[in-house]
Amino acid sequence: MTLPLAVFASGSGSNLQALMDHFAGPDAVARVALVVSDRPGAGALERAASAGVPTALIEVRGRSEERVAEETLAALSRAGIELVALAGYLRLVPAAVTRHFRNRMLNIHPALLPAFGGAGMFGRRVHEAVLAAGCRVTGATVHLVDERYDEGRPVAQWPVPVLPGDTPERLAARVLAVEHRLYPAVVEALARKLTGGAVTEHQEVGEPAFVLGRLDDLGAVDVRRLLQIG
Ligand code: GRF
Repeated sequence: MTLPLAVFASGSGSNLQALMDHFAGPDAVARVALVVSDRPGAGALERAASAGVPTALIEVRGRSEERVAEETLAALSRAGIELVALAGYLRLVPAAVTRHFRNRMLNIHPALLPAFGGAGMFGRRVHEAVLAAGCRVTGATVHLVDERYDEGRPVAQWPVPVLPGDTPERLAARVLAVEHRLYPAVVEALARKLTGGAVTEHQEVGEPAFVLGRLDDLGAVDVRRLLQIG
């Protein structure tokens, strides 16, 4: 069974691209069946169009939460969506939608939550804050989505070193390269869990959360190669 996946994105959509590429094959456990954006000019919408994936533009600014929720749920239901991945979606998802997709909606955040998350913590600001705090390690977090920004339970985290001389841009690029590997793997693990399939060797699935690898397993998941990214 191929699980219909919706991706929500406000920006350039490089994580969307990673997900579409990952789930492109005929035997994929999920497929990107809908891309939702709140921004008419979002690069993510262009990427979806190039890949032939249907899109829904659902604007949020100046509209009531009820209206946005209703339109979002209707679009997701029309496309038969079973699983949602937020990928650079800068709006709070209405509670009616997060409730409907409880434990079936993920987000990726470019830091190790619960640090450096919450309202207003997105894009360059996250990496500036990590550098300003003098952290030696940052990373990417995939978490379940609830009705508050970045507070749902983390299900997978991947550490990324902060290197001497890093700028927010260099750090962002190093983290983003990890995101492109982490997110498809975690979405696949959740899709397998939802379809009752087996997970791969490095994906441990438990209830209710799962992690990709374990800190004491880092050798097995080739972290040295990941750490050299960027
Ligand atoms: C990523 O860093 C993601 O973690 C955050 O927003 C950024 C989206 O980038 N939530 P892209 O649009 O996928 O390139």
